[in-house]
Amino acid sequence: MRTSLIAGNWKMNGSLQSVNELIEGIRAADAVGAELVVCPPAVFLFKVGGMLDGSAVGLGAQNVCNHEAGAYTGEVSAAMLREAGCRYAIVGHSERRSLYGETDQLVAERFAMAVSGGIRPILCLGETLEQREQGVTEQVVAAQLDAVVDHCGIEAFAEAVIAYEPVWAIGTGKVATPEQAQAVHACIRALLEGRDAQVAAGIRILYGGSMNPGNAAELLAQADIDGGLIGGASLKAPDFLAIAQAVD
Ligand code: PGA
Repeated sequence: MRTSLIAGNWKMNGSLQSVNELIEGIRAADAVGAELVVCPPAVFLFKVGGMLDGSAVGLGAQNVCNHEAGAYTGEVSAAMLREAGCRYAIVGHSERRSLYGETDQLVAERFAMAVSGGIRPILCLGETLEQREQGVTEQVVAAQLDAVVDHCGIEAFAEAVIAYEPVWAIGTGKVATPEQAQAVHACIRALLEGRDAQVAAGIRILYGGSMNPGNAAELLAQADIDGGLIGGASLKAPDFLAIAQAVD
């Protein structure tokens, strides 16, 4: 059985005050049937890690450097993330790919560095609206996935998480239908099965893109949807927790 994972990607939002309020709200939650993780901006990781001490809510970063240490201005290493208390790091988010030019190769290197540093990567995959309209969604997602599997080996996915995030659904309020999402999730699992059946059966594949308390239950009920990567709705504790409760 795969334990559902609900991860909040706060992106570049928040202040010391709002972070306090958000974590107080999330910590106040009763036990939910899903694993919960929050991914604050890097500058807040130590603070949030401290606030989450003793709670079941895990900590994740929004990216991780593809090098161990050295002259990489602006980057944060896997070892530093571990020291801050991170269990997870998002890798290959579409905003990193489209706004900061991260290539499949760079994403694969970041993924590898997370794994070797003891951080579980949450690898994001997804097509643009144009690609969906051209009918090449599965090819696009397969190419993004293959780049990482070829570079890191399928063994590297043993502790990893995948997030299918159609680019046209991120932050737009346009959510994939449960059928559209399930089809791509099943395709990702089948691709992994071709490499290693055990990894494919155990890996959690999250859906991301305008998931909210109103649409979460239907998405999470799909056979191959094992949780969500939540942007906007993760910035309000009641909404984030309502999504987590939709797992049950
Ligand atoms: P959204 O973002 O929930 O605001 O669409 C999801 C994401 O980018 O991970």
